[in-house]
Amino acid sequence: MNKIGVLTSGGDAPGMNAAVRAVVRKALHEGLEVVGIKRGYSGVIEGDFITLDRSSVSDIIQRGGTFLRSARCEEFRTKEGRKRAAKKLREEGIEGLVVIGGDGSFTGAKLLNEETGIKTIGVPATIDNDIACTDDSIGYDTAMNTIIDAITKIRDTASSHERAFVIEAMGRHAGFLTLAAGLAGGAESILVPEIDFEMDEVCEKIQHDYEEGKIHSIVLVAEGVELGNVEFETNRNPDESPAFLIGREINERTGFETRVTILGHIQRGGAPTGRDRLLASRLGASAVDQLLAGKSNKMVGLIHNTVKVAPIEEAIESNKELNEEVYKLANILT
Ligand code: F6P
Repeated sequence: MNKIGVLTSGGDAPGMNAAVRAVVRKALHEGLEVVGIKRGYSGVIEGDFITLDRSSVSDIIQRGGTFLRSARCEEFRTKEGRKRAAKKLREEGIEGLVVIGGDGSFTGAKLLNEETGIKTIGVPATIDNDIACTDDSIGYDTAMNTIIDAITKIRDTASSHERAFVIEAMGRHAGFLTLAAGLAGGAESILVPEIDFEMDEVCEKIQHDYEEGKIHSIVLVAEGVELGNVEFETNRNPDESPAFLIGREINERTGFETRVTILGHIQRGGAPTGRDRLLASRLGASAVDQLLAGKSNKMVGLIHNTVKVAPIEEAIESNKELNEEVYKLANILT
């Protein structure tokens, strides 16, 4: 193998730049040429390529976002789009592709390999941390710290005004980010899609804590929280975030003045933590090793602090399970 490509795809995550840097520098160290592909799979189809050398990735390890940019590409979801992409890669002499992204990006990498034979290796990067075969994905730790920081700041104002706050965190359909940030940030209640909850319990806790002298309450809600089986006394507006309904309900039932904060895309930005830079550096370098070893259709992950390689299919299809012990612990500690 002489030449490889690297791209970032899907929702950006802090640490993607550190991963690209690791891919480039490790590949150059091994005598390979490296091509950077702009805007994920869109850039593959359009042939938006740039040659990357050591200095192209200087001064980026500490930056959030991705200097290669990212996109969610509709055309690549079609067989025809993937065929066009493979043609562009072949014309450029790219024999292996490192795909830094989440499960949607990995599905693309898998299909590209199976349909066209282009070798692909996935590096997990998403703040959601919903990818199996790795303990953590790149960006998760930084996003968790962003949420903890937000909880800390909101708690100040919540206490001053004796208010309850409902804070909504990202995570799409998964609650990993919310659970971790909720425990580490000391949220009074944590609501995630994987675990059923009752509004009665949430409200009783707020009331009980208040009687015990707690003058604020933080309810951290995952954006994908399941409300289907929850009984509400107030009406739901289908267009609003779950956090607003939960906030209204708390206000109605407890009389506690309630505010809602949707953290939104602030969770995707910022300088990556040391932990994310370390993870990105190790996984990026390992992806190059896998291509050099002739591997394809795999994902590199970190399990118990050891780099592990898994079939990309397993990473996409296995359901990563939320740690219920951690959830129980969070309930005991708050
Ligand atoms: O997958 C990362 C993520 O930030 C999710 O947590 C969130 O649901 C989604 O992306 C938002 O996507 P977009 O940036 O396209 O609005």
